[in-house]
Amino acid sequence: MREDGSADKFTLMDARIVPATTETIARAARLLREGRLVAFPTETVYGLGGDATNDAAVAAIFAAKARPRFNPLIIHVPGLAEAEALAVIDERARRAARQFWPGPLTLVLNRRSDCPVSLLASAGLDTVAVRVPAHPIALALLRETGRPVAAPSANRSGRVSPTEAAHVAAELGDAVALIVDGGACPVGVESTVLDLTTETPTLLRPGGETLEALTELLGPVDLASGSPEAPRSPGQLTSHYAPVLPLRVNAIDAHPGEALLAFGANPPSGFASMLNLSPRGDLVEAAANLFAMLRRLDRPEFSAITVMPIPERGLGRAINDRLRRAAAPRP
Ligand code: TXA
Ligand code: MG
Repeated sequence: MREDGSADKFTLMDARIVPATTETIARAARLLREGRLVAFPTETVYGLGGDATNDAAVAAIFAAKARPRFNPLIIHVPGLAEAEALAVIDERARRAARQFWPGPLTLVLNRRSDCPVSLLASAGLDTVAVRVPAHPIALALLRETGRPVAAPSANRSGRVSPTEAAHVAAELGDAVALIVDGGACPVGVESTVLDLTTETPTLLRPGGETLEALTELLGPVDLASGSPEAPRSPGQLTSHYAPVLPLRVNAIDAHPGEALLAFGANPPSGFASMLNLSPRGDLVEAAANLFAMLRRLDRPEFSAITVMPIPERGLGRAINDRLRRAAAPRP
């Protein structure tokens, strides 16, 4: 703090946030191999990474997020060849991987019998969720680390996912040794999770890869209907991605004191504050802005955050999924 009581910007800078360079990526890889946790950018959201083959590192991820142990982690690898060391890749999975990797698609596959990933990371399931992120910094880090990296979104369990390095520092405090800063995540919502262990592929979580694109390549896709009590994929837990303020979705009318998260041209007036996900009504732009704007509106001077209706197509499915969960009754 300065003498006048205002915050000095240097005291607010977090020394663990470093710009991504060859040197800092090498340092991050070393830390990962030593069993420490490192946050890094992907095209979807920032991940909290740990060596997936190291039980202690995986346990530290669950502790840092206060994440229930039954909720398995996504394992990140730099390419299909590395995925083949972890999971059984049949012809269908190979087609999906060739088309969508690197990219925001996570495949749930059967573990190989010699899969080196910690059983804790898979929460004891005989499947493993794998993805190859489409982000140059993430890929460089994964190659340099030379091991599969377990990385859930770098937020406390149940909260809004981070799309900027500063969000990670605010969420996770001291648990993370280093935060590699790669700027804002371009996609902005988490990867689509697709189960390929079922006869018909099953969509476990809508995300950055669209259902339309998956269906075009793979044919019909089942939409998972896991109950909140017995989720097929624990990402289906009802309350999730939640800001502190209550959220009202599909709203067009103003209540006093509410902040508006708008979409498209001509948003309604009468709100205490307003941010627009995409004034031109573009769902890709809206997804990229979603979590950062939710964070900016999540302030005690407002009574709630109201969100306008978002079309249920393309990335709109992932946006609506996150908003429904953020609006769900809290435990
Ligand atoms: O975009 C993303 O996927 C980000 C970035 C960092 O890669 N990661 C992410 O991880 O969102 P997380 O842990 O927040 O979400 C993982 C989701 C959860 O819904 C989890 O239940 C599901 O994937 N999952 C993981 N392993 C699974 C498995 N073996 N079977 C079914 N679902 C699984
Ligand atoms: Mg998450």
